[in-house]
Amino acid sequence: MNTVRIGIIGTGGVAMSRHIKELLQCENAKIAALCDIDPAALSRAAEKAGVPAEKCYSDYRDLIADPEVDAIEICTPNYLHAEMAIAALRAGKPINLEKPVAMNRAQADTIVAAEQDSSAFGMTCFTYRFMPAVRYAKHLVDSGLIGDIVGLNVAYLKNSGFWEERRLEWRFIKKYAASGVVGDLGVHLIDLAQLLAGNITELCSTKATVVKERKRLDSEELAPVETDDSCSFLAHFACGADGAFHITRCAIGHKNTIRYDVYGTKGSISFDLNDPKILTVCHGEGDPKNYVSVTENVPQEFYLLQEQAFVNAVLGKRDPLFPTLADGAQGQRVVDALLASADERRWVDII
Ligand SMILES: NC(=O)c1ccc[n+]([C@@H]2O[C@H](COP(=O)([O-])OP(=O)(O)OC[C@H]3O[C@@H](n4cnc5c(N)ncnc54)[C@H](O)[C@@H]3O)[C@@H](O)[C@H]2O)c1
Repeated sequence: MNTVRIGIIGTGGVAMSRHIKELLQCENAKIAALCDIDPAALSRAAEKAGVPAEKCYSDYRDLIADPEVDAIEICTPNYLHAEMAIAALRAGKPINLEKPVAMNRAQADTIVAAEQDSSAFGMTCFTYRFMPAVRYAKHLVDSGLIGDIVGLNVAYLKNSGFWEERRLEWRFIKKYAASGVVGDLGVHLIDLAQLLAGNITELCSTKATVVKERKRLDSEELAPVETDDSCSFLAHFACGADGAFHITRCAIGHKNTIRYDVYGTKGSISFDLNDPKILTVCHGEGDPKNYVSVTENVPQEFYLLQEQAFVNAVLGKRDPLFPTLADGAQGQRVVDALLASADERRWVDII
Protein backbone atom coordinates (compact mmCIF):
# COMPACT_ATOMS: atom_id res chain seq x y z
CA MET A 1 0.00 0.00 0.00
CA ASN A 2 1.42 3.41 -0.96
CA THR A 3 -1.55 5.60 -0.08
CA VAL A 4 -3.73 5.03 2.97
CA ARG A 5 -7.42 5.58 2.15
CA ILE A 6 -9.01 6.99 5.29
CA GLY A 7 -12.63 7.08 6.42
CA ILE A 8 -13.68 9.52 9.14
CA ILE A 9 -16.68 8.84 11.41
CA GLY A 10 -18.02 12.01 13.03
CA THR A 11 -17.32 15.18 11.06
CA GLY A 12 -17.90 17.82 13.75
CA GLY A 13 -15.49 20.12 15.59
CA VAL A 14 -12.34 18.06 15.99
CA ALA A 15 -12.68 16.29 12.64
CA MET A 16 -12.78 19.66 10.87
CA SER A 17 -10.19 21.50 12.97
CA ARG A 18 -7.61 18.74 13.26
CA HIS A 19 -8.20 15.47 11.38
CA ILE A 20 -9.29 16.74 7.97
CA LYS A 21 -7.05 19.81 8.13
CA GLU A 22 -3.96 17.73 8.87
CA LEU A 23 -4.82 14.81 6.57
CA LEU A 24 -4.97 17.27 3.67
CA GLN A 25 -1.31 18.11 4.44
CA CYS A 26 -0.15 14.50 4.95
CA GLU A 27 1.98 12.42 2.63
CA ASN A 28 0.62 9.03 1.51
CA ALA A 29 -2.92 9.74 2.69
CA LYS A 30 -6.29 10.27 1.03
CA ILE A 31 -9.60 11.07 2.72
CA ALA A 32 -11.73 8.43 1.00
CA ALA A 33 -15.02 8.48 2.92
CA LEU A 34 -16.93 10.34 5.63
CA CYS A 35 -19.81 9.52 7.95
CA ASP A 36 -22.06 11.68 10.11
CA ILE A 37 -25.70 11.52 11.17
CA ASP A 38 -25.96 15.30 10.70
CA PRO A 39 -26.29 16.03 6.96
CA ALA A 40 -25.08 19.64 7.37
CA ALA A 41 -21.90 18.57 9.18
CA LEU A 42 -21.35 15.85 6.58
CA SER A 43 -21.67 18.15 3.60
CA ARG A 44 -19.39 20.82 5.19
CA ALA A 45 -16.73 18.17 5.71
CA ALA A 46 -17.23 16.65 2.26
CA GLU A 47 -16.65 20.03 0.67
CA LYS A 48 -13.51 20.68 2.74
CA ALA A 49 -12.09 17.18 2.19
CA GLY A 50 -13.16 16.82 -1.43
CA VAL A 51 -15.11 13.60 -0.82
CA PRO A 52 -17.83 12.72 -3.38
CA ALA A 53 -21.46 12.21 -2.31
CA GLU A 54 -21.36 8.44 -2.92
CA LYS A 55 -18.65 8.15 -0.24
CA CYS A 56 -20.62 10.12 2.37
CA TYR A 57 -22.42 7.76 4.74
CA SER A 58 -24.97 8.22 7.50
CA ASP A 59 -24.38 4.75 9.02
CA TYR A 60 -20.86 4.12 10.31
CA ARG A 61 -21.15 0.40 9.52
CA ASP A 62 -21.35 1.22 5.81
CA LEU A 63 -18.15 3.27 6.03
CA ILE A 64 -16.33 0.47 7.86
CA ALA A 65 -17.51 -2.07 5.25
CA ASP A 66 -16.39 0.08 2.29
CA PRO A 67 -13.58 -1.91 0.59
CA GLU A 68 -12.02 1.38 -0.56
CA VAL A 69 -11.42 2.43 3.07
CA ASP A 70 -8.17 1.11 4.59
CA ALA A 71 -8.17 2.87 7.98
CA ILE A 72 -10.72 4.64 10.17
CA GLU A 73 -10.71 7.78 12.31
CA ILE A 74 -13.35 7.94 15.06
CA CYS A 75 -14.31 11.51 16.00
CA THR A 76 -17.75 11.03 17.54
CA PRO A 77 -18.94 11.84 21.08
CA ASN A 78 -17.42 9.66 23.82
CA TYR A 79 -20.37 7.26 24.31
CA LEU A 80 -19.97 5.98 20.73
CA HIS A 81 -16.22 5.31 20.80
CA ALA A 82 -16.20 1.73 22.09
CA GLU A 83 -18.91 0.41 19.75
CA MET A 84 -17.32 2.02 16.68
CA ALA A 85 -13.74 1.14 17.61
CA ILE A 86 -14.58 -2.51 18.23
CA ALA A 87 -16.54 -2.76 14.94
CA ALA A 88 -13.60 -1.35 12.94
CA LEU A 89 -11.03 -3.55 14.67
CA ARG A 90 -13.23 -6.62 14.06
CA ALA A 91 -13.26 -5.66 10.36
CA GLY A 92 -9.43 -5.68 10.49
CA LYS A 93 -9.11 -1.92 9.92
CA PRO A 94 -6.64 0.24 11.91
CA ILE A 95 -8.25 3.01 13.96
CA ASN A 96 -7.31 6.47 15.16
CA LEU A 97 -9.63 6.90 18.14
CA GLU A 98 -10.41 10.21 19.80
CA LYS A 99 -9.88 10.61 23.51
CA PRO A 100 -11.16 9.79 26.04
CA VAL A 101 -11.13 6.35 24.43
CA ALA A 102 -14.23 5.26 26.33
CA MET A 103 -16.79 6.08 29.01
CA ASN A 104 -14.93 4.17 31.72
CA ARG A 105 -12.07 1.81 32.39
CA ALA A 106 -14.06 -1.41 31.78
CA GLN A 107 -15.12 -0.18 28.34
CA ALA A 108 -11.56 0.91 27.52
CA ASP A 109 -10.35 -2.58 28.39
CA THR A 110 -12.87 -4.10 25.92
CA ILE A 111 -11.36 -1.93 23.15
CA VAL A 112 -7.85 -3.11 24.03
CA ALA A 113 -9.09 -6.73 24.08
CA ALA A 114 -10.66 -6.25 20.62
CA GLU A 115 -7.30 -4.93 19.37
CA GLN A 116 -5.56 -8.03 20.74
CA ASP A 117 -8.02 -10.25 18.81
CA SER A 118 -7.65 -8.20 15.62
CA SER A 119 -5.10 -8.15 12.81
CA ALA A 120 -5.34 -4.35 13.05
CA PHE A 121 -4.17 -1.87 15.69
CA GLY A 122 -5.33 1.40 17.18
CA MET A 123 -3.95 4.80 18.05
CA THR A 124 -5.33 7.12 20.74
CA CYS A 125 -5.61 10.78 19.68
CA PHE A 126 -3.39 12.15 22.40
CA THR A 127 -2.92 15.26 20.29
CA TYR A 128 -0.51 16.99 22.63
CA ARG A 129 2.09 14.23 22.14
CA PHE A 130 2.53 15.79 18.72
CA MET A 131 3.28 19.30 19.93
CA PRO A 132 6.93 20.12 19.19
CA ALA A 133 7.62 21.36 22.75
CA VAL A 134 6.31 18.11 24.21
CA ARG A 135 8.41 15.95 21.90
CA TYR A 136 11.49 18.02 22.68
CA ALA A 137 10.75 17.93 26.43
CA LYS A 138 10.50 14.13 26.29
CA HIS A 139 13.84 13.98 24.47
CA LEU A 140 15.51 16.24 27.08
CA VAL A 141 14.06 14.30 30.01
CA ASP A 142 15.18 10.98 28.49
CA SER A 143 18.66 12.40 27.85
CA GLY A 144 19.03 12.98 31.61
CA LEU A 145 19.44 16.77 31.27
CA ILE A 146 17.22 17.59 34.26
CA GLY A 147 18.07 14.46 36.27
CA ASP A 148 15.32 12.49 38.00
CA ILE A 149 11.88 14.10 37.95
CA VAL A 150 10.79 15.16 41.43
CA GLY A 151 7.74 17.33 40.71
CA LEU A 152 5.28 18.59 38.11
CA ASN A 153 3.08 21.65 38.13
CA VAL A 154 0.47 21.51 35.39
CA ALA A 155 -2.44 23.71 34.34
CA TYR A 156 -5.01 23.49 31.54
CA LEU A 157 -6.93 26.76 31.57
CA LYS A 158 -9.71 27.81 29.21
CA ASN A 159 -12.47 30.42 29.33
CA SER A 160 -14.88 28.40 27.17
CA GLY A 161 -17.13 27.42 30.08
CA PHE A 162 -18.36 31.02 30.21
CA TRP A 163 -18.98 31.56 26.49
CA GLU A 164 -22.49 32.99 26.25
CA GLU A 165 -23.51 31.02 23.16
CA ARG A 166 -22.48 27.67 24.65
CA ARG A 167 -25.53 25.44 24.98
CA LEU A 168 -26.23 22.08 26.58
CA GLU A 169 -24.23 20.06 24.04
CA TRP A 170 -23.34 16.37 24.61
CA ARG A 171 -20.25 17.32 26.67
CA PHE A 172 -22.50 18.53 29.50
CA ILE A 173 -24.63 15.36 29.71
CA LYS A 174 -23.28 12.38 31.64
CA LYS A 175 -24.69 9.57 29.47
CA TYR A 176 -22.91 10.99 26.40
CA ALA A 177 -19.67 12.31 27.92
CA ALA A 178 -19.20 10.44 31.25
CA SER A 179 -17.29 13.43 32.64
CA GLY A 180 -16.55 17.06 31.82
CA VAL A 181 -13.07 18.60 31.87
CA VAL A 182 -11.70 15.51 33.58
CA GLY A 183 -12.11 13.30 30.50
CA ASP A 184 -12.07 16.10 27.96
CA LEU A 185 -8.95 18.08 28.95
CA GLY A 186 -7.58 16.23 31.97
CA VAL A 187 -6.87 13.05 30.06
CA HIS A 188 -4.42 14.99 27.82
CA LEU A 189 -2.56 16.33 30.88
CA ILE A 190 -2.47 12.92 32.47
CA ASP A 191 -1.07 11.35 29.32
CA LEU A 192 1.68 13.96 29.00
CA ALA A 193 2.57 13.71 32.67
CA GLN A 194 2.80 9.91 32.41
CA LEU A 195 4.80 10.20 29.18
CA LEU A 196 7.39 12.39 30.93
CA ALA A 197 7.41 10.99 34.47
CA GLY A 198 5.94 7.47 34.24
CA ASN A 199 2.69 6.23 35.71
CA ILE A 200 0.66 7.88 38.45
CA THR A 201 0.13 5.52 41.38
CA GLU A 202 -2.33 7.47 43.55
CA LEU A 203 -4.21 10.74 43.54
CA CYS A 204 -6.60 12.97 45.43
CA SER A 205 -8.97 15.24 43.51
CA THR A 206 -11.74 17.76 43.80
CA LYS A 207 -14.11 18.80 41.01
CA ALA A 208 -16.93 21.29 40.51
CA THR A 209 -19.62 22.34 38.08
CA VAL A 210 -19.27 26.12 38.01
CA VAL A 211 -21.88 26.85 35.32
CA LYS A 212 -24.82 24.83 36.58
CA GLU A 213 -27.44 25.39 33.86
CA ARG A 214 -27.37 25.91 30.10
CA LYS A 215 -29.97 26.42 27.40
CA ARG A 216 -30.98 23.27 25.58
CA LEU A 217 -29.76 22.87 21.98
CA ASP A 218 -33.26 23.15 20.53
CA SER A 219 -35.02 25.63 22.85
CA GLU A 220 -34.49 28.53 25.26
CA GLU A 221 -35.29 26.29 28.24
CA LEU A 222 -32.52 26.03 30.86
CA ALA A 223 -31.50 22.52 31.93
CA PRO A 224 -28.92 21.27 34.44
CA VAL A 225 -25.28 20.69 33.46
CA GLU A 226 -24.39 17.17 34.63
CA THR A 227 -20.61 17.16 34.14
CA ASP A 228 -17.69 18.94 35.81
CA ASP A 229 -16.08 22.07 34.39
CA SER A 230 -13.22 22.38 36.89
CA CYS A 231 -10.95 19.86 38.60
CA SER A 232 -7.79 20.05 40.72
CA PHE A 233 -5.73 17.14 41.92
CA LEU A 234 -2.53 16.02 43.59
CA ALA A 235 -0.79 12.92 42.26
CA HIS A 236 2.06 10.63 43.27
CA PHE A 237 4.10 8.95 40.55
CA ALA A 238 5.81 5.55 40.66
CA CYS A 239 9.17 7.34 40.19
CA GLY A 240 8.64 9.14 43.52
CA ALA A 241 7.68 12.52 42.02
CA ASP A 242 4.52 14.36 42.90
CA GLY A 243 2.39 16.68 40.82
CA ALA A 244 -0.24 19.38 41.21
CA PHE A 245 -2.80 19.79 38.42
CA HIS A 246 -5.51 22.37 37.75
CA ILE A 247 -7.92 21.89 34.84
CA THR A 248 -10.74 24.33 34.18
CA ARG A 249 -12.96 25.81 31.49
CA CYS A 250 -13.73 28.71 33.81
CA ALA A 251 -10.48 30.72 33.72
CA ILE A 252 -11.24 34.08 32.17
CA GLY A 253 -8.15 35.42 30.43
CA HIS A 254 -7.14 32.02 29.06
CA LYS A 255 -8.22 30.79 25.65
CA ASN A 256 -6.23 27.55 25.72
CA THR A 257 -3.31 27.66 28.16
CA ILE A 258 -1.56 24.34 28.74
CA ARG A 259 1.34 25.00 31.07
CA TYR A 260 3.85 22.44 32.26
CA ASP A 261 6.69 22.89 34.74
CA VAL A 262 8.74 19.73 35.18
CA TYR A 263 11.29 19.81 38.01
CA GLY A 264 14.24 17.41 38.21
CA THR A 265 17.24 16.86 40.47
CA LYS A 266 19.52 18.68 37.98
CA GLY A 267 17.26 21.20 36.27
CA SER A 268 13.78 21.99 35.04
CA ILE A 269 11.77 22.29 31.84
CA SER A 270 8.77 24.55 31.24
CA PHE A 271 6.49 24.90 28.25
CA ASP A 272 3.17 26.50 27.44
CA LEU A 273 1.32 25.03 24.49
CA ASN A 274 -0.02 28.49 23.63
CA ASP A 275 3.34 28.56 21.85
CA PRO A 276 4.35 24.93 21.23
CA LYS A 277 7.42 25.95 19.24
CA ILE A 278 9.42 27.12 22.26
CA LEU A 279 10.53 25.58 25.53
CA THR A 280 12.38 26.93 28.57
CA VAL A 281 15.16 24.92 30.19
CA CYS A 282 17.01 25.65 33.41
CA HIS A 283 20.16 23.67 34.18
CA GLY A 284 23.87 24.21 34.78
CA GLU A 285 26.90 23.20 36.81
CA GLY A 286 27.53 23.68 40.54
CA ASP A 287 25.03 25.32 42.85
CA PRO A 288 21.53 25.44 41.27
CA LYS A 289 20.89 28.89 42.70
CA ASN A 290 23.20 30.17 39.97
CA TYR A 291 21.45 28.37 37.06
CA VAL A 292 19.75 30.53 34.45
CA SER A 293 16.64 29.72 32.42
CA VAL A 294 17.01 29.76 28.66
CA THR A 295 14.14 29.77 26.16
CA GLU A 296 14.90 27.77 23.01
CA ASN A 297 13.19 27.26 19.68
CA VAL A 298 12.29 23.59 19.32
CA PRO A 299 14.52 21.98 16.65
CA GLN A 300 12.80 20.92 13.42
CA GLU A 301 13.36 17.20 14.04
CA PHE A 302 10.71 17.33 16.81
CA TYR A 303 7.88 18.30 14.46
CA LEU A 304 5.38 15.61 13.40
CA LEU A 305 1.67 15.95 12.60
CA GLN A 306 -0.63 13.66 14.60
CA GLU A 307 -2.33 12.51 11.42
CA GLN A 308 0.97 11.79 9.68
CA ALA A 309 1.92 9.61 12.66
CA PHE A 310 -1.25 7.55 12.13
CA VAL A 311 -0.70 7.24 8.38
CA ASN A 312 2.95 6.26 8.97
CA ALA A 313 1.88 3.60 11.48
CA VAL A 314 -0.58 2.10 8.98
CA LEU A 315 2.34 1.94 6.54
CA GLY A 316 4.45 0.14 9.17
CA LYS A 317 6.54 3.10 10.42
CA ARG A 318 5.56 3.68 14.03
CA ASP A 319 6.74 6.83 15.83
CA PRO A 320 8.53 6.18 19.18
CA LEU A 321 5.92 8.34 20.99
CA PHE A 322 2.98 6.67 19.18
CA PRO A 323 0.01 6.71 21.62
CA THR A 324 -1.43 3.20 21.71
CA LEU A 325 -4.91 2.12 22.74
CA ALA A 326 -3.30 0.74 25.91
CA ASP A 327 -2.06 4.29 26.62
CA GLY A 328 -5.65 5.48 26.11
CA ALA A 329 -6.88 2.83 28.55
CA GLN A 330 -4.21 3.85 31.09
CA GLY A 331 -5.45 7.46 30.80
CA GLN A 332 -8.98 6.18 31.37
CA ARG A 333 -7.86 4.42 34.59
CA VAL A 334 -6.63 7.74 35.94
CA VAL A 335 -9.81 9.54 34.80
CA ASP A 336 -11.94 6.98 36.65
CA ALA A 337 -9.77 7.40 39.76
CA LEU A 338 -10.12 11.21 39.57
CA LEU A 339 -13.90 10.94 39.47
CA ALA A 340 -14.00 8.40 42.32
CA SER A 341 -11.61 10.46 44.45
CA ALA A 342 -13.66 13.64 44.05
CA ASP A 343 -16.99 11.86 44.60
CA GLU A 344 -15.75 9.92 47.64
CA ARG A 345 -13.45 12.70 48.98
CA ARG A 346 -10.41 10.44 49.44
CA TRP A 347 -7.02 9.38 47.97
CA VAL A 348 -7.43 6.64 45.35
CA ASP A 349 -4.82 4.09 44.20
CA ILE A 350 -4.46 3.47 40.47
CA ILE A 351 -4.38 -0.27 39.94
N1 LIG B 1 -7.76 15.30 20.63
C1 LIG B 1 -8.24 16.49 20.91
O1 LIG B 1 -7.52 17.44 21.18
C2 LIG B 1 -9.74 16.69 20.87
C3 LIG B 1 -10.29 17.97 20.70
C4 LIG B 1 -11.68 18.09 20.64
C5 LIG B 1 -12.49 16.96 20.76
N2 LIG B 1 -11.91 15.74 20.95
C6 LIG B 1 -12.74 14.52 21.07
O2 LIG B 1 -13.33 14.26 19.80
C7 LIG B 1 -14.64 13.70 19.96
C8 LIG B 1 -15.65 14.58 19.21
O3 LIG B 1 -15.61 15.88 19.73
P1 LIG B 1 -16.09 17.15 18.87
O4 LIG B 1 -15.71 18.34 19.63
O5 LIG B 1 -15.65 17.02 17.48
O6 LIG B 1 -17.67 16.94 18.95
P2 LIG B 1 -18.76 17.51 17.92
O7 LIG B 1 -20.06 17.42 18.62
O8 LIG B 1 -18.31 18.82 17.38
O9 LIG B 1 -18.71 16.45 16.70
C9 LIG B 1 -19.16 15.13 16.83
C10 LIG B 1 -19.77 14.71 15.52
O10 LIG B 1 -20.18 13.34 15.61
C11 LIG B 1 -21.42 13.21 14.93
N3 LIG B 1 -22.12 12.00 15.34
C12 LIG B 1 -22.88 11.81 16.45
N4 LIG B 1 -23.39 10.56 16.46
C13 LIG B 1 -22.93 9.96 15.33
C14 LIG B 1 -23.13 8.65 14.77
N5 LIG B 1 -23.88 7.72 15.38
N6 LIG B 1 -22.52 8.37 13.58
C15 LIG B 1 -21.77 9.30 12.95
N7 LIG B 1 -21.55 10.56 13.43
C16 LIG B 1 -22.13 10.87 14.61
C17 LIG B 1 -22.16 14.50 15.26
O11 LIG B 1 -23.24 14.74 14.38
C18 LIG B 1 -21.05 15.52 15.17
O12 LIG B 1 -20.95 16.07 13.86
C19 LIG B 1 -14.88 13.64 21.46
O13 LIG B 1 -14.59 12.37 21.93
C20 LIG B 1 -13.89 14.65 22.04
O14 LIG B 1 -13.48 14.35 23.35
C21 LIG B 1 -10.57 15.59 21.00
